[in-house]
Amino acid sequence: MDLSTDICGIELSGPVLNGSGTFDALAARRVFGDSLIEDFPFDCYVSKTITMNPRPGNPPYRLWETPSGMINSIGLPGPGLDGFLERDLPGLAGLGVPLIVSVMADQVEDFEVLVSRVATRDEVAGIELNVSCPNVHSGLIVGEQPSETEALMKALRPITEKPLIVKLTPNVANPQEVAVGAEAGGADAVSMINTVKAAAIDPGVNRTWLGVGAGGLSGPAVRPIALAQVRAVSASVGIPVIGMGGITDAESALEFILAGARVVAVGTENFRDPRAGSSVTEGLPAALGRRGFGSLAEAQAASLD
Ligand SMILES: Cc1cc2nc3c(=O)[nH]c(=O)nc-3n(C[C@H](O)[C@H](O)[C@H](O)COP(=O)(O)O)c2cc1C
Repeated sequence: MDLSTDICGIELSGPVLNGSGTFDALAARRVFGDSLIEDFPFDCYVSKTITMNPRPGNPPYRLWETPSGMINSIGLPGPGLDGFLERDLPGLAGLGVPLIVSVMADQVEDFEVLVSRVATRDEVAGIELNVSCPNVHSGLIVGEQPSETEALMKALRPITEKPLIVKLTPNVANPQEVAVGAEAGGADAVSMINTVKAAAIDPGVNRTWLGVGAGGLSGPAVRPIALAQVRAVSASVGIPVIGMGGITDAESALEFILAGARVVAVGTENFRDPRAGSSVTEGLPAALGRRGFGSLAEAQAASLD
């Protein structure tokens, strides 16, 4: 079955991306060598979120397993913009699939620098704007406010003709209002959901488990929340939605397509099975067939009662 599709002009051989920060392709390449490229699990690679300056990330602990999910407070460790462009980008450009680079800043001026320097690189097909990471205070502010999201988009839109994708936070009452703001500001797509604000208590000591007190929940536990939000947002905007949140297999991926997503992303499941993206793709023809679809496009065009 032909699974080829596109997301805001980026041609894809299939509808399966990775969620930003959930698949370290450079580390995987070091372990698996060229076999990773020959059988790359995703149809498009989304980088870990890049910030202006190098960051060590949050103090430990940073992970907590929950029933059907996990909480992380990784805190965006990374090499900063210069380190990413010099050291990481060449390797990511060699993965054999289109590359989307995720960026985040705590002020518009820094977002402008990030977008303009990343967009000038031919290897980059699109840019995702992380305005929703619940671990970094500044990211939350923009993504919680429709007007701030629209203003950010209006500042960034003139910088590049490359697709700009706004990653939405689920930690608002009405994500569709933020999506409408993103679209009004000129976004080409939205991706959703980021992690859901969450905390855990240390089982042995009377304190919070995570070093910074709270983090973001992901995995199958958040899937019903993500499906509801994808439905609401895709009904409210004309731009395409990249759907994610607890996808583990082809069936759950197809649920997101039926909820209104054009393409999907696999996140937390990659930690359990680095080939999860391939499993989703391999299972899609049968999953589509079981629901009576002859093609991916038929499912993308379907609407639910
Ligand atoms: C360990 C971890 C790190 C993440 N890092 C980022 C990140 O750097 N940027 C971002 O936009 N989202 C990040 N996310 C959120 C995921 O991309 C995704 O939106 C979320 O986990 C929901 O999908 P899932 O339930 O399939 O994991 C991270 C998630 C996890 C679990």
